[in-house]
Amino acid sequence: MNSVRNKIQNSKTLIGPFPTFEVQDTPYTPYELFLTWFQFAFDHDIHEPHAMTLSTVDKKGNPDSRVLILKDVDEEGWYFATSTISEKGKQLQTNSNVSLNFYWSLIGRQIRIRGNAMKMDKKTNMQDFLNRGKVARAITLIGKQSSILEKQSDFEEALSTQLSNLKDNPVEVSDSWALYKVRANEVEFWQADEKRQHVRLKYFLEGGNWVKKQLWA
Ligand SMILES: Cc1cc2nc3c(=O)[nH]c(=O)nc-3n(C[C@H](O)[C@H](O)[C@H](O)COP(=O)(O)O)c2cc1C
Repeated sequence: MNSVRNKIQNSKTLIGPFPTFEVQDTPYTPYELFLTWFQFAFDHDIHEPHAMTLSTVDKKGNPDSRVLILKDVDEEGWYFATSTISEKGKQLQTNSNVSLNFYWSLIGRQIRIRGNAMKMDKKTNMQDFLNRGKVARAITLIGKQSSILEKQSDFEEALSTQLSNLKDNPVEVSDSWALYKVRANEVEFWQADEKRQHVRLKYFLEGGNWVKKQLWA
């Protein structure tokens, strides 16, 4: 047996110890509970708690996913930023249904969000772009995220062109950069338990109000 495969097959998971999750004490909205859980993640030094998986579907209905950064959250939704001409950008153009997933293994917590992603207005997108670092802005200005890179030197040349362009035009913005807001219609909070008695609480948006239900694990 290949030793890596052997290790995969014998890897332990959800060892704990984990915090408890009292579903009776939860707020009316998933947004408030999300903030409480996020504060808890910060308090427990979770590494990059704002890294999340964004799932989209392409025009044939095939799913896709990748890790992105959560840029903000408020009563209206969860925010991420990306190139509108990337693979995910094209997918969002044809189907705005998405899901987000956070997993913090150290505290055994998973948050699942399902909803709809919408692009923010031009001014907000421009501001988000300008808040990014110089290299990140230069790479976005190249405008080729997710297309085939024939050779590494093509990237290096394009980057150097855009970096000198930014030197001359420091506030140039890319019109293919957008901040997206995910308006949720379902949010689930999942707490692992060492004895496998995991606790799941799901919020459903019904007629504009949040209803919460516990789920079987
Ligand atoms: C921790 C982490 C954070 C990332 N954050 C972003 C991000 O905020 N925006 C983004 O466009 N790509 C981000 N990426 C890169 C994406 O995972 C992905 O490679 C890229 O967006 C292209 O995806 P696509 O081909 O599905 O469009 C991040 C990757 C990692 C591992």
